[in-house]
Amino acid sequence: MKRFENKVCYVTGAGSGIGKATALSFAKEGGKVVCCDINKQNAEETVSEILKSNGIAIALGVNIASKEEVENSIIKTVEVFGRLDCAANCAGIAGPVSLKIHEYPEEYWKQQIAVNLTGNWYLLKYQIAQMLKNGGGYIAILSSAAGLIGQPENSPYAASKHGIEGMMKTAAIEYATQNIRVNSICPTAIETPMIMQGRRKLAENEEAKQQAINFQRMKRMGTPQEVADVALWLCSDQSSFITGSSIKADGGALC
Ligand SMILES: NC(=O)c1ccc[n+]([C@@H]2O[C@H](COP(=O)([O-])OP(=O)(O)OC[C@H]3O[C@@H](n4cnc5c(N)ncnc54)[C@H](O)[C@@H]3O)[C@@H](O)[C@H]2O)c1
Repeated sequence: MKRFENKVCYVTGAGSGIGKATALSFAKEGGKVVCCDINKQNAEETVSEILKSNGIAIALGVNIASKEEVENSIIKTVEVFGRLDCAANCAGIAGPVSLKIHEYPEEYWKQQIAVNLTGNWYLLKYQIAQMLKNGGGYIAILSSAAGLIGQPENSPYAASKHGIEGMMKTAAIEYATQNIRVNSICPTAIETPMIMQGRRKLAENEEAKQQAINFQRMKRMGTPQEVADVALWLCSDQSSFITGSSIKADGGALC
């Protein structure tokens, strides 16, 4: 029997990078996957790949910063698949600029707090409410190394990811005796569109790319699959005594 056979697995950010790798992995291991992304077309592409490999999945366009959209996505999950067993909350944004706090535009602060922090709180709120109804569930949240240490010139990102750590630990304590486990994953540089094409534009800047590579003791970036593997483990019975933990996926960077 496959590891996620008969399990309903909800993934945000399923249209790209780490979320996409996680959705594909859940499907490969037998899960019924709810692929959520603000970019519905990308979520649908992930679902097409799953269906082509005889997996089971649906796509939902969900902006996690909207309480109504998050609530509706959980209602839809239960309508289609009957329950919610696992959640990998991967969606996140890093902001378009690199600036110190005294120069940082407030609008980008508000965006990152709305998506990364408030959005993840809405997800926990509605996912946990459903998990309580169906006997429990396991949640992995994509935090960051910037949830554990400061990140110069990206204050909202570091603040939102540190906030995720606080929520994650609180949720772990609140539901520890109700078969709900909540953990976070804290990666350093993972080769995805977020860092290759986003704020840091590593695809176009060889010097910055080398710096990002050298930050890890392994002298390479991680792959989306290497993070997806951690998310699946945290959402599986193999991590049964682990809750409230921040798992570094950092090639030894933060030792
Ligand atoms: N790539 C890295 O180096 C790295 C390092 C540490 C942490 N992370 C975290 O990992 C997670 C995944 O990042 P990634 O590198 O795969 O990025 P990515 O940009 O490739 O994918 C992020 C996905 O989230 C979606 N998304 C953005 N805002 C959303 C919203 N409001 N509602 C729903 N979906 C939304 C995007 O459309 C995209 O498909 C993020 O939370 C990120 O902060 C990434």
